[in-house]
Amino acid sequence: TALHEFLHGLPKCEHHLHVEGSLSPALLFQLAKTNKITLPVSGDSSFASISSLQARYERFTSLDDFLHYYYIGMSVLLTAGDFESLAYEYFSHAHRDGVHHAEIFFDPQAHTSRGIAYTTVVAGLSAAQRRAEADFGLTSKLILCFLRHLPASEANTTYAEASRLGHFSDGTVAGIGLDSSEVDFPPELFTEVYTSAKDAGIRRTAHAGEEGDTSYIEKALDICNVERIDHGIRMVEDETLLKRVAKNKMLVTVCPLSNVQLKCVTTVAELPIRRFLDEGIRFSINSDDPAYFGGYILDNYCAVQESFELSVAEWKYIAAGAIEGSWCDQARKETLL
Ligand code: HPA
Ligand code: ZN
Repeated sequence: TALHEFLHGLPKCEHHLHVEGSLSPALLFQLAKTNKITLPVSGDSSFASISSLQARYERFTSLDDFLHYYYIGMSVLLTAGDFESLAYEYFSHAHRDGVHHAEIFFDPQAHTSRGIAYTTVVAGLSAAQRRAEADFGLTSKLILCFLRHLPASEANTTYAEASRLGHFSDGTVAGIGLDSSEVDFPPELFTEVYTSAKDAGIRRTAHAGEEGDTSYIEKALDICNVERIDHGIRMVEDETLLKRVAKNKMLVTVCPLSNVQLKCVTTVAELPIRRFLDEGIRFSINSDDPAYFGGYILDNYCAVQESFELSVAEWKYIAAGAIEGSWCDQARKETLL
């Protein structure tokens, strides 16, 4: 359709993409073979084949149900070359979908806990970033996420390692984020690391209000001083909070297909897209974990269009907000507009 072409051509920025969540079942099985990783077949026949795994991905019941597969999946990533292949595959797909700038999450603790060095992960991802910029003109940034189901002391250790290597000051890593199981792991557990990042002038975001209630969003803002909110869909449950986010022009990174797949909502139509537009909330539309949730960024744009029938002007507002809310410099923003 004409609007599909328009959405494809619209210059897009992606801000909510877990690079480990772009591990396709095909690459997962290929790397398992190369790296001689035994997938857990006993007790869960999902890992029997690519198609049985894909079928399981269509039946997630919650964030934690998904995370179980997400952490097993990434266990096939061992070398810098593996991380480079993973990220380059994502950038290639993003480029085909019309993404010009991407700010991608990675989960170092999910790798260091398996004996993979932080430097191995970052070397591979950085190599893919350079190739994507050279091959596609696609610029990107890395956002280092802490796993909130692990003790805050381990987040502090991870932060210290990236800091010591100069990764925040030299631009290798653009900022910090917080992901994994949300409920029972509120943002204020990570006050120390967020305060250090703020004092050092490092960008900050956090997943909040995906499964967790509005208190998770409030604490992320009040205590962790985040500049952006990942998911944040539950903020519509609190009028004051909604107005505050709108007034401060904070970017909310919405992931429509993810929210449906993880049963946060039953349909895309249930998402507060119309409300966000009416309130002047600045938001972007993203794929979260595209290999697990049945769609990349363009599929998410199209799903929103099917449910909300937005106008060209509304899409231009969304695209412009996504550029404004990006963490690239002003000169790059101007080329994106
Ligand atoms: N939420 C929390 N943690 C995650 C997600 C998510 O959507 N994707 C990957 N890790
Ligand atoms: Zn996410």
